[in-house]
Formats: sequence, structure tokens, C-alpha cells
Amino acid sequence: MMPDPNFDVSVNLTRESSPDQSAADVVIVGLPQQDSLPTSLNEFDQIGNGWLTRLQESGQIGGKRGDLTLLGVPSNEGPKMLLVAGLGDAVHHRSDAFEITAAAIRSLLDRPRGCVEVRVAEQFPAEHHDAIVAGAMTACEGQALYRSEPSLKLPTQIAFPGVSQDQLDRGRTIGQSINQARRMVNEPPAVLYPASFADAVTELFEGSETEVEVWDEGRLAEEGCRAILAVGAGSARPPRLVMMRHNGGGDEPPIALVGKGVTFDSGGLSLKPSEAMMDMKCDMAGAATVVGVMHALAKIGVKRNVIGFCGLAENMVSGTSYKLGDVIKTRSGKTIEILNTDAEGRVVLADTLDVAKGFQPQSIVDLATLTGACMVALGRDVVGAMTNDPKVLSGIESSASIEGELMWQLPMFRHYDEQVKSKVADIKNIGDGRWGGAITAAKFLENFVDGQPWVHLDIAGPAFAEQPKAHRDAGATGVMVRTLLRWIEEQA
Ligand code: BES
Ligand code: MN
Ligand code: ZN
Repeated sequence: MMPDPNFDVSVNLTRESSPDQSAADVVIVGLPQQDSLPTSLNEFDQIGNGWLTRLQESGQIGGKRGDLTLLGVPSNEGPKMLLVAGLGDAVHHRSDAFEITAAAIRSLLDRPRGCVEVRVAEQFPAEHHDAIVAGAMTACEGQALYRSEPSLKLPTQIAFPGVSQDQLDRGRTIGQSINQARRMVNEPPAVLYPASFADAVTELFEGSETEVEVWDEGRLAEEGCRAILAVGAGSARPPRLVMMRHNGGGDEPPIALVGKGVTFDSGGLSLKPSEAMMDMKCDMAGAATVVGVMHALAKIGVKRNVIGFCGLAENMVSGTSYKLGDVIKTRSGKTIEILNTDAEGRVVLADTLDVAKGFQPQSIVDLATLTGACMVALGRDVVGAMTNDPKVLSGIESSASIEGELMWQLPMFRHYDEQVKSKVADIKNIGDGRWGGAITAAKFLENFVDGQPWVHLDIAGPAFAEQPKAHRDAGATGVMVRTLLRWIEEQA
């Protein structure tokens, strides 16, 4: 039996500096890359008769970005330890606040600690304080969900003196929303499958204003979602479609967020080799990102109308699997010829986008771990963006650049349209050969948005990390939660 999934992503955060300073186990302080000790460190320097000045002068502590030095405080006064975090000499960006804090907190999770206090560096303006809190939260979530001994030992409390209650609450919400998305992706596929994903969403929004609707396989059939059903046909775990409605914007047409939720992608009859299948529990990261963003909108009470859609199916091999040569009549009426069952994400999205389109959204943004080709083009860390509406995309790009999430546009020339035409149906689910595979996948999707403003984000690379970074564990990353929240909040 698999353990129950646990979506309680909580760390005890506070604004209060402990009344008695010596109650803090560790105080984290920022050190800019400069020759003299900043005045903010004077109070700690004096406790040990100029010890920090001496350490800096002899080069034992450094202010280089990424430097982390944990020091025992040589006195009975003050905190037990000081963690000096290098701030570098760069212009300080929101994502620096996020990542430097996360790396500092993460470096302390090797053993149990009591209260950890984060002294917010003056380099970071008050409007970035939420990023500091969110970074601390995400440091506390990792992929080792099923180790008997927790591999990240969370401190009993993290204190952020000098951070306003608003910024603390906002940062906590953003951190929780990113962690929510990551937790869903990191759960094994035997725990998280279409029905259990839908249940987790229903539970997550219980008692909130967000309205959750779940279509089971019966409803999907009534609704004509034959494409979603085809992808799920080989699995003992039937598909679902989940809708989350956040009504904060009165009469305005909603923004639609659409996520690919393939809870496991074996490739189907076009079976993947083991190596390529290993991380395919991550193939629902688009859907999990949509859940994360909807969670943030609900908690923050954002004054916009947004509907999230998750197309959920498990792509498996059995006597009932969909096959090469099958032709599927999608919900929209367009027919698809299946020539590779491993190009299943676009097939699931065909129906999911069609359902979204029915709500007359002002714009549609889809997120999908859609193609290995996108990783060939842009590498592991960069989101591929494709659109039929450059204005909508540029709004998302500017939010991404503020949040420090990397994305890059790929072209959508008409020239590629030929490549998804089928000899027997309206379109086929692969291009001609593998060249331009990220774009031909997007061209396929474009058939289902009917000219409405639409942005497609291929997150196959950045959604799931093979290696850890200083600021984040390996595994799910929660990429694009911050960017999309910002973009939605900034929509006029
Ligand atoms: N889920 C995969 C894409 C993927 C690959 C995501 C690596 C994350 C990491 C997708 O369903 C897939 O298999 N795409 C195929 C498409 C091909 C058959 C046209 C691919 O990229 O090889
Ligand atoms: Mn696939
Ligand atoms: Zn897939």
C-alpha cells in the first residue's frame, strides 16, 4: 500500500524577532561584496570584539553571491550561530531575494534547529520581501516524500523581523502555492492519478470561494471529450477533467489557464525506453501549476476572473490502449489521426482547450510538459513560449522577467502548418520527422483555440530538475507559478 499523499505544506513563519535574542539558533545576515563590514553587522561584530571584521579582513567570510558561512557566535550573548550569506555586487533583483534566502535556509536543513531568524538585507526593497518569504518556504519542500528519516529537517520557526504582515502573508501564500504544485508533481504515479488528482483539488479548495467541478469518465463521454478518453483508454485509472473557477473580477471575461495532466506517460504503444520513462510522473506538471496558481489567486483574493482547467489521463499500455492509425473525433469536431501514442499531451489538450474556449475567455494560457524537442532547442531551464497573439505573450514575458523565470519565444510561421496535416483526418498528432518538434506540437494545439488569444508554454525542461540547486531540491520546481500570478494580477 502506498502512503497517503500529504498536501500539508506548512512551515511556522513569524514576524517577531525573539524578545531574547539568544533564543534564535541561527540568524541569517546578508553580506554585500565590499571591503568593509556593513553597519547592519556592527551589533554582531561587537558581541565578539570585532571578530567579523577580522574574519572579513582575512578573507574567511565573503560577500560573493553564493557564499554561505556558518559561524558559531563567540559569546554568551546573541544568537548561537550566524549564517553569513553573500549578496554579490549585482543590482538586486526579485529573484535574488528569493534564491539567496532559499539557499541560506536550505543550507541549514541538515540538522534540526529551533528558531531561524532572517535579517532582511537593506539591498532588498520592501516590495521584494514577499519573495524572501516565498524563497524560504520553497527551500523547506523537497522530493524525499517517502524517506523514513526526513531528509530536510525543518526548523521549528523562521522569523522575518522587519517584514510587514502583508508581505509575510503574501510570501507565505506564494511559497505554499509553489510547494503545492511541486508536491503534486513529486508524488508517485500510484498515489497521484487522474481521480486522486481531482480529489486533491476538491479538498484543497474546500471552504474557499473557488468553485471546483470534476468531470469523470461518464461525463467526459457525454461531453464528447473523446480525445481525453482515447489517451486514457489503456489505463485502469480513468481520465478526469477538473475545472476551478475563481470569480474576483465581476463581469469581465475570464482568463483561462489550461494544464496538461498526464499523471504518468509510458508512451503508450509507442512505448518509451526505461530511461525516458523514469521521470514521467512529472507529466502532469502543467496541471499542477494551474492548481498552484489558482490556489494563490484564492488565498490572495485577486480581483480577476480566472478559470483553471486540468486535462487528466494516464498514458498506458494494454489491450484497450489507443492505437497508431486510430482517428479520433475531438470535442471540437476536428479529427485527429494518431501516428504516435507518445504524442499524447497534445491530444489531451485538444479537448481541454475546447472546453476552455467555451467560456469565451479573454485569453487562454496553456502549460504542458509537451516535447523533448523543446529541451533540445532551449535546454533544461528555459520555458518555450509560442503564441498567436504577441501582445498577450509580451505581458507574460515581462512578468517572467520580473520574477526571474526564464522563457524564450519560438516562431509560429504558417510555413509549419503543412506538417500537421493528415492524409486521412484533419490533422495528425506528429510533425514530419522530429525537426521543429516543439513548434509542430504548438501548431497542433493552435487548431483547438479557434483564433482566440492564446499562449502555449512548453515546460518540459524546467518543470522537473534532475539535479538539485543551492536554492532548491531536485525534482519538481513549480516553474511559472510566480510568473502567472504576477501576470494575472497585472492584467488591466
Ligand atoms: N511528456 C513527453 C515530453 C517530455 C519529455 C516531457 C521529456 C518531459 C521530459 C511527451 O508526451 C512526449 O513524449 N513527447 C514526444 C513527442 C514525439 C513523440 C512527437 C517527444 O518529445 O519525444
Ligand atoms: Mn508522451
Ligand atoms: Zn507526455
